[in-house]
Amino acid sequence: MIEVSAPGKLYIAGEYAVVEPGHPAILAAVDRYLTVALTASDGVGHVHSSRYGHGPVTWFHDDDGDSIVVEHSPLDYVTAAIALLERLRSERGLRPLYYDLHIDTGLDDASGRKFGLGSSAAVTVAVIDALNRFYELGLSPMERFRLALVATIHVAPKASGGDVAASTFGGWIAYTAPDRAALRALSDDLPVADLLARPEWDVCTVRRLPELAGLRMLVGWTGSPASTERLVHRVSLSQERQDRAYARFLAESDAAVEELVHAWGRDPDRVLALLRRCRRLLDGLGRLRGTTIETEQLAFLCDEAEALGAAGKPSGAGGGDCGIVLAPARVGDEALAGQWRRNSILPLDLHLHAPR
Ligand code: MEV
Repeated sequence: MIEVSAPGKLYIAGEYAVVEPGHPAILAAVDRYLTVALTASDGVGHVHSSRYGHGPVTWFHDDDGDSIVVEHSPLDYVTAAIALLERLRSERGLRPLYYDLHIDTGLDDASGRKFGLGSSAAVTVAVIDALNRFYELGLSPMERFRLALVATIHVAPKASGGDVAASTFGGWIAYTAPDRAALRALSDDLPVADLLARPEWDVCTVRRLPELAGLRMLVGWTGSPASTERLVHRVSLSQERQDRAYARFLAESDAAVEELVHAWGRDPDRVLALLRRCRRLLDGLGRLRGTTIETEQLAFLCDEAEALGAAGKPSGAGGGDCGIVLAPARVGDEALAGQWRRNSILPLDLHLHAPR
């Protein structure tokens, strides 16, 4: 049996901007995991998962009353990852084999509600890693990351892949995405190996950040699962107009994230100021697009953090899921967690998943 675990992730800064190729975001991999166990089988391959077993695919009409947005199941990503790796296996002239995959996730609560820690990315990364070992393909972490991103954009074309990078590389990272539309357009015609070497990847970077000096990360879960695909769809509906306000959002987000990268291991007060700035930028983007990135609970979490001298932000697309707080030693965990509980926000005991 081959068993592979992939960590969940949290966004720290740069959300939405990172959807545009070459614009940076900061993420952390966290010590909650999704595990894939692969066993050889004869005849037929199966995917087993107590959580995703029924493969729910939900869809809804968006506010414009016209577009349909599909909320994919993590099983869609499993299928895409298997299809891509089997293509690579065949291109290398290796004999096809059968296998069963058993998926177990620690990225949901006991009743199966997602924390928003990137289950889809973690399952894609874990399946690709498991098949890499099974077929002895010898893929490097960067190759596995690129394959996982190509599989991801077959399911969710707009996804930046920041969560895929965090889940593959671990630690704190600064990430910029490639041009996924171009890669997707090429992906059916080119051999997989050629696709992984395309110049479209040149703007895609993964920079490791040092230890976060003088601050610790606290995470509060709102208990309301958010739909990233729905939020990204809404923001990008109007994004297509590429207006001046959006260009300004991108420039300001880039400047704040690059300054954060610079201050990360050395200047905690600057990091706090910049995180507060990133919160304001996201809030402004939401208003601009007539949508709510910061729900009432997330606003409460961030306001309480700021009132105590820390900094808080929605993590990821917002609309629910988790908020993150970076706090200096003088702010006690209990002071924050006590406030959160009064507003039904659950503190999650999460720590950094160190680089592999
Ligand atoms: C969602 O977790 C983060 C976004 O930037 C979307 C993405 O990066 O794919 C909003």
